[in-house]
Amino acid sequence: MTAEQMRNKYFEFFRERGHSLIASASLLPENDPSVLFTTAGMHPLVPYLLGERHPMGKRLVNAQKCIRTDDIDDVGDASHHTYFEMLGNWSLGDYFKKESIRMSYDFLTRVLGIPADRLAVTVFEGHALIPKDTEAYDYWKDVGLRDSQIYFYGMDENWWGPAGATGPCGPDTEIFYDTGALSCNDECGPACKCGKFVEIWNNVFMQYNKLADGSYVLLDQQNVDTGMGLERIVAVLNGQASVYETDMLAPIVKKIEELTGVAYSDWVGEAGVAGSSVGNVREFRIIADHMRAAVFILGDYKKVVPSNTEQGYILRRLIRRAIRLLRQLAAGADPQSCLSAIADVVISINANVYPELLENRDFIIEQLEKECAIFLRTLERGLKEAEKVLGRLEAGGTLAGGEVFRLFDTFGFPPELTEELAAEKGAAADIEGFKQHLAQHQEKSRSGARGMFKGGLADHSDQTARLHTATHLLNGALRTVLGDGVMQRGSNINAERLRFDFSFDRKMTAEEIEAVNKIVNRAIADSIDVVCEEMPVDAAAASGAVGVFESRYGEIVKVYTMGEYSKEICGGPHVANTGELVSFTIQKEESSSAGVRRIKATVGAQ
Ligand code: SER
Repeated sequence: MTAEQMRNKYFEFFRERGHSLIASASLLPENDPSVLFTTAGMHPLVPYLLGERHPMGKRLVNAQKCIRTDDIDDVGDASHHTYFEMLGNWSLGDYFKKESIRMSYDFLTRVLGIPADRLAVTVFEGHALIPKDTEAYDYWKDVGLRDSQIYFYGMDENWWGPAGATGPCGPDTEIFYDTGALSCNDECGPACKCGKFVEIWNNVFMQYNKLADGSYVLLDQQNVDTGMGLERIVAVLNGQASVYETDMLAPIVKKIEELTGVAYSDWVGEAGVAGSSVGNVREFRIIADHMRAAVFILGDYKKVVPSNTEQGYILRRLIRRAIRLLRQLAAGADPQSCLSAIADVVISINANVYPELLENRDFIIEQLEKECAIFLRTLERGLKEAEKVLGRLEAGGTLAGGEVFRLFDTFGFPPELTEELAAEKGAAADIEGFKQHLAQHQEKSRSGARGMFKGGLADHSDQTARLHTATHLLNGALRTVLGDGVMQRGSNINAERLRFDFSFDRKMTAEEIEAVNKIVNRAIADSIDVVCEEMPVDAAAASGAVGVFESRYGEIVKVYTMGEYSKEICGGPHVANTGELVSFTIQKEESSSAGVRRIKATVGAQ
């Protein structure tokens, strides 16, 4: 089974059952300060899960590009990725547990032909505030599962969300494929990591909204949100030991073999379902995964570039780790041309579904080459620095773990290399100490990432709606003052301000900033009604609306118009009349990255 066949089977099954197919949204969430990347198909749908009407109806299906950096340390095993594709179907206040379980069961057993006794499912066992999910249990029994196939777990395993600190969440029922391997012990079940059970699908019953005070309130509408990892289900169906053998990843691994002249040691499948660290398996997998993620981030229409902050920082880390491992596999390989060659394979595997990769190919290659050149220079400086600190060491001495970490963190200088250089000088390097520093650093960056979840996707407060509406007016005013070449590159809103990134290749003059300020304030003073219309994406484009035309399946989109000032395709929260913004003030205009400017602004009584 190929990924494409799988996608199509999934779409067909759910379309036959009344679901509208929608396009994957951007990997870079719109108007959402709480997460760096889209991590699930439900992310772009949060407003609709909270009750806003979706123009395509109450039943949706899609394949969504996702990036999860939480799993980055697990990449290299058989099934974890940073980038992956998620198949999902949704009920927005339409069907609920019974139909969802029935459809999932039918799809897996009838369409994919998985024998029913190979399935195991988990159900929410209840919690002080939320009752046990006996309904889900009953419906699994109704479709024919035996008690021995149904496992109850608590909040840790069978509760999903919210994606941020607040927002839609609920009990889930996860579906696993039982590989048939022997149980590792009496406690062995789907939650066990021994590899007997492979998670294939998660059906979340979004009944609750978690509020900032930690309480759960029932949502006005009961939703279903499901997600199935495309690569993983294809691997399971094909009996492949890891996702790296599927047609989504195997050509990348093959390319790495060709470029490095090193054979991937896992083709015979010795890794088993639980993964393996045999030979060079980890290195190959990490390079393949990270390059795929990097190409998808660069290929997104938002044009993120490697940098030291936010998405750009993750991108930088992904590319640099791939370069380090490539050099580790084959010291003689030219990393720059390897990156480009691997990127081309990633593009060719995915371009039919994600044409933006092909459209942005030159940009992708240019950025990879640039980052590679910067990193190689940094590594050279690291080498000099390493020689300096090692020069201070006495023969037989040991370089402290903190120093090994500093070389790694600041210069990307690999600890193995430090160890080798130390050995040449008859000294040692404290690799254990290095690992402790690294672990501390990872813990810090993880909690940093958790800190990102403040506010949350569910923040559709009045202030967010005002700032978001102001973003539309700002976009329109910038195009009036600076020309139609201005394109939105990013938007981020928090309680205090809006932040808007747009393509423009020089600093704005004071006069231009003032002119933009004036236009937005005039639109506010005019108290214009914000008009929302639903139309096919082609009609939206023909009407002169700006925005992302990423709909691929003839979808209906929402177009928001504010008089002559703004016309945009959008799904965000808006106020009803521009007068509600009271006033608008640009606080700062600065560079964001090459060719991209950034404006921070506020609304409200000043
Ligand atoms: N949102 C759920 C998940 O990520 C189902 O898609 O698992």
